[in-house]
Amino acid sequence: MKLSEKLKIATQNAHKEIEKSHYFKRLLSTDLTVEEYVHILCLWKSFLTPIEASWQKHAESNLIFSTINQRGKTYRLKLDIDNLGKFYHLTNSSGAGKKLLANDFDVQNPLSLISSLYVIEGSTMGAMHIVKQLMKFDFCLENTTHFYTHYAEATVAMWQACKMELDHWGDENPNLHDQVCDGAVHCFQSLGNHFNG
Ligand code: HEM
Repeated sequence: MKLSEKLKIATQNAHKEIEKSHYFKRLLSTDLTVEEYVHILCLWKSFLTPIEASWQKHAESNLIFSTINQRGKTYRLKLDIDNLGKFYHLTNSSGAGKKLLANDFDVQNPLSLISSLYVIEGSTMGAMHIVKQLMKFDFCLENTTHFYTHYAEATVAMWQACKMELDHWGDENPNLHDQVCDGAVHCFQSLGNHFNG
């Protein structure tokens, strides 16, 4: 079985747990507030910052994941947070002063690149559903939804490219599949802890 298929099976329960968690349910609610939306973006930003830094490190030395340089999301989060702060005169919209837990996902583990790529890039599939609901709110405009719209019409193609790269790596490292799957479950759980903390 291909690595991406194993990852999907291994993380099915972890994915269900995330979908049921407070902030992800709020994202799909009909009464999301602008303050909640900004808080969710801040939580994402603080979760993704160390992960993206580790992707960057790998990108410099690893030719297999050639699309990794296009996958950064924190600059998009910053744009949305800054714009919402300006338009709605929100204090602390940068997340400063809010109690944000540090990310407990172990980016030092050399396999964290593979596990986190699967989890974070897969989340763009869910984002396609979430953004349809977000667009109903007047605070979700073109310049406040850079994160959730990210690859736009290229989303499915970017996800397919990601899975191909993961599978290519997986074919060359068949003995590491279980560790990568455990890492992906850990990544989902760390995200859950980060958002629930
Ligand atoms: C309200 C929240 C969410 C909803 C409604 C949702 C929904 C979905 C849906 C419908 C798919 C399948 C898309 C398809 O195959 O056409 C999917 C895939 C996926 N989602 Fe989510 N998602 C949510 C949150 C997340 C989060 C927060 C993460 C991780 C950070 C995540 C990670 C993934 C992954 C890795 C896949 C790919 C599964 C695979 O095919 O291997 N999702 N999601």
